[in-house]
Amino acid sequence: MNRKEAAAREAAKYVEDGMVVGLGSGSTASMAIKLIGQKIKDEGMEIIGIPTSMASDLLGRAVGIRMGELDDHREIDLTIDGADEVDPRLNLVKGLGGALLWEKVVAASTKVEMIVVDDSKLVEHLCQKAPLPIEIVRFSHRTTARRLASLGCVPELRVADEDEPFVTDNGNYIVDCRFDRIDDPKSMESRINAIPGVVENGLFIGLASKVIVSSADGIRILEKATPK
Ligand code: 5RP
Repeated sequence: MNRKEAAAREAAKYVEDGMVVGLGSGSTASMAIKLIGQKIKDEGMEIIGIPTSMASDLLGRAVGIRMGELDDHREIDLTIDGADEVDPRLNLVKGLGGALLWEKVVAASTKVEMIVVDDSKLVEHLCQKAPLPIEIVRFSHRTTARRLASLGCVPELRVADEDEPFVTDNGNYIVDCRFDRIDDPKSMESRINAIPGVVENGLFIGLASKVIVSSADGIRILEKATPK
């Protein structure tokens, strides 16, 4: 079993009958979705899944999870999602898979936001290894990218196949922004989102409650000091 699967397997243990469960995006969260589907078959459990992307919606349905809409639920009991970086305060960079907008909306409505990663995702400070993905509208996207650069980063428009821009589930573009480091992520999150044309950014500050870290030594669970 690889490290991502080990983290996903641990997280799936937290899913209980009757829960409303946010289904994350990316390779690690997808493993968790498949394991939840298996658990439903094996244990006859019933849950409602809330997607964080079109891909997680499709996968959830394919593995037999009854899918619902966030608007029909006041709160999600548990969301299992991946991350690109996790700092010592459990702040995250997310969005290399392109699903950061729905992921953040779902995380903000979740009681227990459980992040599943292998130990390569642990960093001392955010943007140490990964660029920060920022979803922006297509209109005047080069102007928006120039404004983002004034915050001290190097923005690069994400491209998909055939050198066409990558388009999110919401029909927007993503710029991946390289920062040397981000010392005050909370303030940077607000400064980024104040730029006209920005839809959302991949800084997840204070949203994660538990991080399941899988390494060669086994599983470690990091918990936020003050619960949400
Ligand atoms: C998608 C994400 C993913 O959770 C993140 O990119 C981690 O993916 P993986 O588990 O494949 O490494 O934020 O928008």
